[in-house]
Amino acid sequence: MLGSRDPAKPAIMTWLEKSGAPAGAGTFAEAAQFGELIFVATRGTATEQALQLADPDNSAESFSGKVVIDVTNPLKMNSEMQMILAPLPDGSLGEAVQRVLASARVVKTLNTVNSAHMVQPQFPGARPQMFLCGNDGDAKGIVADILRSFGWDPIDAGKIDAARMLEPLSLLGIRLAMASGNWNYLFRLEYKPT
Ligand SMILES: NC(=O)c1ccc[n+]([C@@H]2O[C@H](COP(=O)([O-])OP(=O)(O)OC[C@H]3O[C@@H](n4cnc5c(N)ncnc54)[C@H](OP(=O)(O)O)[C@@H]3O)[C@@H](O)[C@H]2O)c1
Repeated sequence: MLGSRDPAKPAIMTWLEKSGAPAGAGTFAEAAQFGELIFVATRGTATEQALQLADPDNSAESFSGKVVIDVTNPLKMNSEMQMILAPLPDGSLGEAVQRVLASARVVKTLNTVNSAHMVQPQFPGARPQMFLCGNDGDAKGIVADILRSFGWDPIDAGKIDAARMLEPLSLLGIRLAMASGNWNYLFRLEYKPT
């Protein structure tokens, strides 16, 4: 189920037609209640508002114990139309999502690639790598298995505060893509054998 402030908008109707059953759409709250596994993929600067809509009573029931995959980035344009990081009190958006959804098990991942490559990334060379971070080891294990099924080799970057590194990495990728016109990029970590 895809959540939206307006689940009947034309773009979602088109997506539903294209996806067929069992795809569905609802409010953010309906999607949060429905999901066993929840992706937060909302505009970075509006993510806290979207999460409040998803859990309007602040009861946390819709999220309690669930694995939440956070792909958001705190990005905005400056007055020179250059993409920059939006300043955040928590240090990163990943930490803000975990703070707001305190009863959920938040794992940040997939934020460093273009959405076209999140599932079944096709790149030459070795299997592509994807960073993830989060506070709950079991949740990271579940998400690592999902990443493997998508075609990634997962790399555990640490607790949720590692989002402070993964979110700026997304900005580096976007800035380079805007300069080159090539959005088909990924980041790779190589170690020289010791
Ligand atoms: N696109 C990519 O290639 C890519 C790659 C990696 C990570 N990301 C991250 O994924 C997130 C989503 O990106 P996107 O490209 O899909 O487009 P986006 O425009 O950044 O986000 C669209 C989503 O944000 C919600 N939203 C926007 N304004 C809102 C508000 N004021 N209150 C509540 N919800 C609001 C929209 O809900 P409604 O349906 O209600 O409008 C929709 O669900 C971002 O954080 C982005 O940085 C994107």
